[in-house]
Amino acid sequence: MNTDNTVADLLSYLDNSPTASWAVSGIASKLEENGFRRLNEKDIWNLNKNDKFYIVRSSSAIIAGISGSQSCGEAGCRIIGAHTDSPGFRVKPEAQRSKDGMITLGVEVYGSPILATWFDRDLSIAGTLVFREENLLKRRLFMLRKPVCRIASPAIHLERNVNKVGFKINPEENTPLLLSTSGSGFQELLALACESAGLREEDVSGWSMETWDPQPAVTGGIDDDFIFSGRLDNLIMCHAAMEAILRTEETPHTRMISLFNSEEVGSKTLNGANSSFLDSVIERLSGSREEYFRCLSNSMQVSADGAHGVHPNYPGKHDSVCRPVLNGGPVIKVNASNRYTSSDISKAYFSLCASAAGVNVQYFVSRNDIPCGSTIGPITSARTGIKSVDVGSAMLSMHSVREMAGSSDHEDMIRVFVEHMMGTVSISD
Ligand code: CO
Repeated sequence: MNTDNTVADLLSYLDNSPTASWAVSGIASKLEENGFRRLNEKDIWNLNKNDKFYIVRSSSAIIAGISGSQSCGEAGCRIIGAHTDSPGFRVKPEAQRSKDGMITLGVEVYGSPILATWFDRDLSIAGTLVFREENLLKRRLFMLRKPVCRIASPAIHLERNVNKVGFKINPEENTPLLLSTSGSGFQELLALACESAGLREEDVSGWSMETWDPQPAVTGGIDDDFIFSGRLDNLIMCHAAMEAILRTEETPHTRMISLFNSEEVGSKTLNGANSSFLDSVIERLSGSREEYFRCLSNSMQVSADGAHGVHPNYPGKHDSVCRPVLNGGPVIKVNASNRYTSSDISKAYFSLCASAAGVNVQYFVSRNDIPCGSTIGPITSARTGIKSVDVGSAMLSMHSVREMAGSSDHEDMIRVFVEHMMGTVSISD
């Protein structure tokens, strides 16, 4: 397998995934190309051994799998979990404002972006349009690439102390999107969205709109050691999970990837990690309630999300010894308060998968004076009783509009994921 091709494929995936729904639709298309069949939660499922399937719930979460040669209850599932959403801004209802010669759009903050990084970027808009077909409401995705708006910073001459005191932001007052001086506003934006989606404006009865940075994802650094892009947290893990399942071969157990929405806002939505999505898919694959419980107990999840690489210009942010570097291999995340699921035995599980793949692992543990974030891992593991480990590729600038990761870590992570999915080792209880 040529690593450069995998990274090139990742870059194109990032460029075509401005929102969680686009991230899901990109993966669904790739799965279709590789013989996966879409199942609808409303239908009766009849799956055979070694069947390739996927389910999309509410456009922005996807579970895909390949059923095993044995029953789910007998052999369990090997799962890779990740999230499809990224921090940013959502256009408010009745968003248009007119002030000081400009038309602006009010936005809501989604998740925890580093707000300052969104200033002075040439931003565009992507989202969904809702239209009616007879009595049925449907969604269609749209994506603009033209830089239709901007969040601009004030000149330094008007904020002389900015580099000393830091760039202070009022998230309500300072973030409305600057759209035009001509008077064009929301209606013109909606018209562009409809045109790009091939819908007539009069047929559209609802929408969601998000900001995104259309600057293409690239490799960079003098030797292309880095990947520069928006939404690396967590589309880089979604892509790695998809690549891994495509590289696997027949196994007794079911191989699965579960990519949820809403992680950045707490996961408690109809298609977040704290929803019924994974549970109900596994129960239906298992056939009976008894087999379902056997399956949960026989299953193993790798929860994959961006990890904090050590930053040479901010060396004091990490533990003094445990300092994961970019391109140093997959990072196993450890937290005594169980904000990550890694345990004695699940850490051993993942590092044995890594040695089988010939890949080095690193560890992240936070300083006691800088608490860490969390992931979908503890939520799905506590809900279902599926054993789990938390891992990720090291990155810098997490939640910036433009993050960076290591280019060789991507292939390394995929190779370890493949060992996990192939069932190289198992946990006894
Ligand atoms: Co994340």
